[in-house]
Amino acid sequence: MPKHKIAIVVGSLRKESINRKVAKSICAFSDTLDCSIIEIGDLPLYNQDHEASPTEAVTRFRQQIAAADGVLFCTPEFNRGLPGALKNAIDVGSRPYGSSVWDKKPCAIVTASPSGIGGFGANHQLRQSCVFLNMPVMQQPEAYLGRVMDDSFDEAGRLKEGPLKDMVMQLAGAFAGWVDLIIRGRQLIAEDAAHVAKQSAAE
Ligand code: FNR
Repeated sequence: MPKHKIAIVVGSLRKESINRKVAKSICAFSDTLDCSIIEIGDLPLYNQDHEASPTEAVTRFRQQIAAADGVLFCTPEFNRGLPGALKNAIDVGSRPYGSSVWDKKPCAIVTASPSGIGGFGANHQLRQSCVFLNMPVMQQPEAYLGRVMDDSFDEAGRLKEGPLKDMVMQLAGAFAGWVDLIIRGRQLIAEDAAHVAKQSAAE
């Protein structure tokens, strides 16, 4: 299986974010994904009036997402929903109308929280936007990572050995398969359509 290019979008802007550390751990340990964390902290608040004159940060962000084969979201839950910074990034990527960079990108959602619920509310709120944006969202395994604390990570900020790391790496492996399935499926459909068109032209 080819190593697909994955844009990881972290929903927290905090330097010591546990979600960023989960994202960094996936980048460090996965041998099936080629990951880069795409920054969202410098994106201006979405304003339709400014669509025709995007800032450098908006252009950079949209290009980085457009260049990826898939998107992995790692986000906290804020007040049982999505952090505003992440929702803003989703809106920025979705417009101008008809030019969404999210369209058809396979994605997966990881939510991590010190609390037991593991960001379930944010996870599903984000899922709702992804479905609307025509992103095939990986359904299983789900990743509501609860009881994630600073001591879940080593001094380098990577997940320590244990069930949490095992669960995250299982998700990363499944996501590699999901992205491959979607991309190869599309290629096969395109090849099939080209073959049928060639046959019809020859008849
Ligand atoms: C939180 N936190 C939180 N946690 C949770 O599980 N459900 C929630 O609804 C909320 N709400 C919430 C709102 C706001 C404004 C803050 C700042 C925090 C706690 C949150 O999970 C915790 O601070 C995480 O450590 C934040 O994620 P990062 O920044 O460590 O990735």
